[in-house]
Amino acid sequence: MVTVDERKSELPSRIGSLGQVSGVLGCQWGDEGKGKLVDILAKHFDVVARCQGGANAGHTIYNSEGKKFALHLVPSGILNEDTMCVIGNGVVVHLPGLFEEINGLESNGVPCEGRILVSDRAHLLFDYHQEIDGLRETELAKSFIGTTKRGIGPCYSSKVTRNGIRVGDLRHMDTFSDKLDVLLSDAASRFKGFKYNRDVLKKEVETYKRFAERLEPFICDTVHYMNESISQKKKILVEGGQATMLDIDFGTYPFVTSSSPSAGGICTGLGIAPRVLGDVIGVVKAYTTRVGSGPFPTELLGDAGDLLRIAGQEFGTTTGRPRCCGWIDIVALKYVCQINGFSSLNLTKLDVLSDLAEIKLGVSYKHSDGTPMNSFPADLSDLEQSKVDYETMPGWQADISSVRSYSDLPKAACEYVERIEQLVGVPIHYIGVGPGRNALIYK
Ligand code: GTP
Repeated sequence: MVTVDERKSELPSRIGSLGQVSGVLGCQWGDEGKGKLVDILAKHFDVVARCQGGANAGHTIYNSEGKKFALHLVPSGILNEDTMCVIGNGVVVHLPGLFEEINGLESNGVPCEGRILVSDRAHLLFDYHQEIDGLRETELAKSFIGTTKRGIGPCYSSKVTRNGIRVGDLRHMDTFSDKLDVLLSDAASRFKGFKYNRDVLKKEVETYKRFAERLEPFICDTVHYMNESISQKKKILVEGGQATMLDIDFGTYPFVTSSSPSAGGICTGLGIAPRVLGDVIGVVKAYTTRVGSGPFPTELLGDAGDLLRIAGQEFGTTTGRPRCCGWIDIVALKYVCQINGFSSLNLTKLDVLSDLAEIKLGVSYKHSDGTPMNSFPADLSDLEQSKVDYETMPGWQADISSVRSYSDLPKAACEYVERIEQLVGVPIHYIGVGPGRNALIYK
C-alpha cells in the first residue's frame, strides 16, 4: 500500500505543503467546481470530512479506471482505499439516500464499512422533511426560495426547534417511535397537505429498525475521532458543500441554504477548534452563476448571458435548470474572502471566457442615488437596486484548455488572474482550464 507520505513526495509542492487540517469552500452561489479540486486533493489526505449540508451538495468523481461515481453525502475520499471518510455532526443525513450511495459504491468494488464514519450527533433527515420542503415552497408561491426540495431546510428546522432525531438515537429504538410521533404530529398540525396517522408511523419505525441495524457499524463519535486524528498528525481535508453567498448568516438571506458553508461551519460541523485550521482554499468561477431565487447584481441578461451559459454548460446537474450567468463580482468576493480568511483561491472555468473580446469585473456597488456602498449590503432591497461599476479588460481569444503551466497562458489571461488577486488580496494558486482532472494549472 502506498502511504500518504510516499504519495506526498510525488505532489506539486503546493499540495504537499497544505496545512494538516485544510478545507475547500465555495465562494459564490455554489457549483464553482469544488468537486474537481477536492477530488485532486483528497488522495493526499488521510481523512476527508463533510461538515455541513446534506445530499443537496455533491459531485461526480472518477476512479483510476475512469468509472463514474455520483456522490451526494459520502465524502469524495471514498475511492482511495486508505482514506477515512467522515460525515460530521453538522451534516443532515437521509439514510435511504446514504444507503443507496453505499450500495452503488460497494457493488462497484469500493468497500465502505469501516471507512465511512457517521457522527452520532448528526441529524436524521426523514422522507417527511422532503415532503414538507415541497409543501413549504408551494406555500411561498412567488416568493419561493428555489430549494432542491431534498428536505435540508426542514431538517435543520427540526434540529433548531429541538425535536429533531439524531443518528445516535437509532441506538435507542425503544424511544424512537415516541420521538418520531412528536416530529410527524408537529408537521401534520402545521401543513394541511401532510397526511399522518398511526400506520404511517408504524411503517416508518419498522423501516428505521432495519436502518439502525445496518448503520450501527458506521456510527461514531466523530468529534472524538477528528480530534484524535489531529493529535496523531493525520492529514484532514474538509469538503464544503454550497458556498458562502448561500450561508444562512452571510448569504443573500432568505435566498440561502440552511447551514454554514463558510469557514466557521468547519469548526461547528466537526467539533474541531479554530486554531487547528490550516489552509482554507476558496473556489471561485472566473465569472458568476446562480440558481434558485435571489438578487444577482452582475447578472448578464439576453445573448451575453446565453453565451456564458452555453460555453460553461451552466445547467443544473439534476434538474437541467439553466443557471443565471454574469461577470465576476469582486464586491461579493472580497466580502467572502473577509469572512473565510482564505489562504488561497482556486479560479475555475477560466477556459469558458476564452472566446470573449472583452471581460468585465464588477468592482464596486453604488446605491440608487449614486453614493458608493462601502460593503456588501445585508439588505436585499439595497442589493437589488444597486448599480455596479465595472472594469473592462481585454480577452485573450485563444483556446487555453490544454495549457498546463502558468507561463504558457496568454498575457491577457494572466492579467485577468492577477487583477482579481490584486482586487481581493488573496493569491490564486490553482486555475481550472477545463473539466478534466488534469486541466489545472498550479500557480
Ligand atoms: P456544488 O457542491 O453543488 O456547489 O458543486 P461543485 O462546486 O462541487 O461543482 P461541480 O464539481 O459540480 O462542478 C461543476 C462543473 O464544472 C462540473 O461539470 C465540472 O467538471 C466542471 N468544471 C470544474 N472545473 C472546471 C474548469 O476549470 N473548466 C471547465 N470548463 N469546467 C470545469
